[in-house]
Amino acid sequence: MTPLRSVLYVPGANKRALAKAPSIEVDAIIFDLEDAVTDSAKHTARADVCELVSRAEFVAGKRIIRINAPDDRRGEEDLSAAVKAHPDAILLPKVEAPEELARHLALIDELAADEEGREDEDSRRLELWAMIETPMAVLNIQRLAALAAEPKSRLTTLVVGVNDLEKDTGVAIGAERAFMTPWLMNCVLAAKAYRLRILDGVYNDFSDEEGYAAQCREGRAMGMDGKTLIHPAQIDVCNEIFSPSMAELAQAAKIIAAFEEPENQGLNVLSIDNCMVERLHYETARQLVAFADQIGQPLR
Ligand code: COA
Ligand code: MG
Repeated sequence: MTPLRSVLYVPGANKRALAKAPSIEVDAIIFDLEDAVTDSAKHTARADVCELVSRAEFVAGKRIIRINAPDDRRGEEDLSAAVKAHPDAILLPKVEAPEELARHLALIDELAADEEGREDEDSRRLELWAMIETPMAVLNIQRLAALAAEPKSRLTTLVVGVNDLEKDTGVAIGAERAFMTPWLMNCVLAAKAYRLRILDGVYNDFSDEEGYAAQCREGRAMGMDGKTLIHPAQIDVCNEIFSPSMAELAQAAKIIAAFEEPENQGLNVLSIDNCMVERLHYETARQLVAFADQIGQPLR
């Protein structure tokens, strides 16, 4: 799966932000038609975002459209317009029940196919991402994530929405997210069990560099694959923290070299610097090096 460390929300109704989007160096962009857009601006935002996504060349690796939930006319029209714009993924907000998510997956399959039921290359690649941002979604997380195991499932990514979780539960996000962490970890576990990507929630205070960096580190330590961002100023720190450090890469290289020594071929456990290293660490080390390779090696 493509590594996505930094994923920036761009409000669909902010024309200046939209104009900048194609040149923003970030792993992915989520164009938002939902919470960042007022009711009166929804229609124009949909048209502007879909036009931009279908027409422009982007520096960012992936383009995602967050639609309004397709349970009413507006959401259905968002979905249909978004599929036609050929983004890399569609992000569904406030997903709660697995049955509802399964229905939306089927609807996308239908919209992505032509009249004979055939899909072109772009439509086949279209991913579905799901926002986990309500108490019910957290309670249902295992069954939601399990939809990724269905044949030809488009579900690839869970996106944590901490502001909505705070709103619906009254549990403050807080500096270290102390009371929210158990819920977030349940989501991480479900994502790992079903091989989904999971992206951490946003950090609202974009002038608080220290608090923000601490939360990026926390997210990585929790097993998040990357973080959703609200401001371009948050991108570089996020990329750095979600990339392997030089020390991690040096350690990985050491482990790989040790297991590849001819005399160690038959061994599953070695001692390196007085530390037990198992063959599973060799696999992890190789994955880390492959990841660094995919992101073009971090500069630190
Ligand atoms: N994407 C693209 N460009 C952005 C941006 C974003 N998310 N956030 C800010 N910028 C641009 C601004 O347009 C501005 O450009 P300009 O000088 O040409 O106008 C520049 O970066 C500096 O912005 P700044 O003045 O520091 O912030 P702001 O007050 O304009 O915007 C927010 C602050 C929070 C309103 C804005 O960052 C934002 O809307 N973020 C995303 C919100 C969102 O999508 N929420 C829903 C999901 S949680
Ligand atoms: Mg939300």
